[in-house]
Amino acid sequence: MKTLIISSSLSKTSKSLILCNEVALGLSKKKVNCSVIDSSSLIINPTHKRKTKDMQELSQKIKEADNIIIGMGVHCYSINDNLKILLDNCFDGAQKKFFGIVCAAGGEKSYLSTMHLTQICMNEWRMIQLPRVLYASNGDFSKDEIISKDVKERIKLFTSEFFEIGKKLCN
Ligand SMILES: Cc1cc2nc3c(=O)[nH]c(=O)nc-3n(C[C@H](O)[C@H](O)[C@H](O)COP(=O)(O)O)c2cc1C
Repeated sequence: MKTLIISSSLSKTSKSLILCNEVALGLSKKKVNCSVIDSSSLIINPTHKRKTKDMQELSQKIKEADNIIIGMGVHCYSINDNLKILLDNCFDGAQKKFFGIVCAAGGEKSYLSTMHLTQICMNEWRMIQLPRVLYASNGDFSKDEIISKDVKERIKLFTSEFFEIGKKLCN
């Protein structure tokens, strides 16, 4: 099973990237061929501007992946601007693929913000979502470390459920 994890935050201290890396570690232990793309290291142009080489390569990796995990930070109760650009320009190869959402927010009450990503992925590419979102807020971290036992437990649950269902959908 080939899993592509796309961290969409451009923040140099991204908390959703920390969550993505933890999930990647868990999947790698299960022998999944798993890679993390930190999009803050890519050159990305907005829609209607030239599609950069990095964007073309990301599109290709999405096409080649069996399934995808998307990391997002909540911005104004929705997805962040960079993720919208990636969705609008790089996701054509994601048709019908299984996907999961990993989300960091400032507060505990923004969890429904991930529904915008669900809507886009389901309506635009008929993607199938893992019915569990890995969600964490500022208080679950101390600097770049996850301090919440609950979040650590939910990382394990998310990882094992993504693995079990992802594997079945691959066959
Ligand atoms: C422009 C902007 C808007 C934000 N809006 C929200 C919001 O609506 N709800 C919330 O809980 N946090 C909000 N936040 C806080 C971020 O979700 C939080 O910093 C999170 O860690 C971002 O993910 P990242 O660290 O992976 O970039 C906002 C942050 C920014 C910069």
